[in-house]
Amino acid sequence: MEKDVLTGLSQMQKSLPSKYFYDQRGDALFQAIMDMPEYYLTRSEYEIVNQQYTAIAEALNPKGRLDVMELGAGDGTKTNVLLSNWLALGMDISYTPVDISANVLKQLQQTFKKNLPDLSVSPMQGDYFDVLEKTKGNANQRLILFMGSNIGNFRGPNQNAFIDAISENMNPGDGLLVGFDMVKDPRTILAAYNDKQGITKAFNMNILERCNRELNADFALDEFTHYPIYDPHTQEARSYLISNRTQSVHFPKSDVHIALNVGETIHTETSRKYTENDIKRLYKRANLNVNGWFYDCKHYFVDCLGVK
Ligand code: TRP
Repeated sequence: MEKDVLTGLSQMQKSLPSKYFYDQRGDALFQAIMDMPEYYLTRSEYEIVNQQYTAIAEALNPKGRLDVMELGAGDGTKTNVLLSNWLALGMDISYTPVDISANVLKQLQQTFKKNLPDLSVSPMQGDYFDVLEKTKGNANQRLILFMGSNIGNFRGPNQNAFIDAISENMNPGDGLLVGFDMVKDPRTILAAYNDKQGITKAFNMNILERCNRELNADFALDEFTHYPIYDPHTQEARSYLISNRTQSVHFPKSDVHIALNVGETIHTETSRKYTENDIKRLYKRANLNVNGWFYDCKHYFVDCLGVK
């Protein structure tokens, strides 16, 4: 972590890797974000899986047993809804959550055991692509889930490479269901990253607090401003922490001092928003056929099914 943090803070445009948001406190704050009135993303996607599970299944039209593989399941709430409804329809499914965190997988397994005791769950720990490659030879048809608009958190061209690499590890007939947050009134988007209660602020600041807690750094927390923006031209929401004064932060383990100017920004997260054409391009270049667009009633969010 210290190496990643110092690499990010040594660049011209300072940044911190967003994966370090999610320690125990960060997980709890993100749960609170998903419950905020302004954060429409989770509720929109929940509505989609809760109301359109039949249409999603029909668009994929699985022949035999379907293995649902999920990349980064979070707390599993939405997946639970999808899979319990599919089981009730009599579909033959198994579930393979994939994550780098053994802890996340353990919790998911417990949740599913409690809520869906009949579902066969076989978690796989590791890098998404290693796991996809390893399981490519499986006889079963697969549906790969990448929900929650996590695709929007890739920077620049990485999202293309990510979808391409997934597609390379898919067999003909396999499906990929990705959750995309759509372009909309910029004020609606910005509010989702800048709530009135200050939960997002606490979430963003937690990355500095974590550096202090775990790396013994000395970020002066009240000398930073939480500053999210939405740029409708690039279709990106970006979160920054801005230094309120010229200051220096010390990392004792590596004995490195990081200098910050007054007004200097640290970029913490990008959340890209999409048009239908963006999504079509993304799937087309990865050789996936678009078999279904599943929107919430406000058309804020889409789960798009690509089939190899
Ligand atoms: N993946 C989430 C998103 O892009 C994470 C998130 C929500 C987030 N609010 C944030 C990240 C604020 C940084 C700052 O919507």
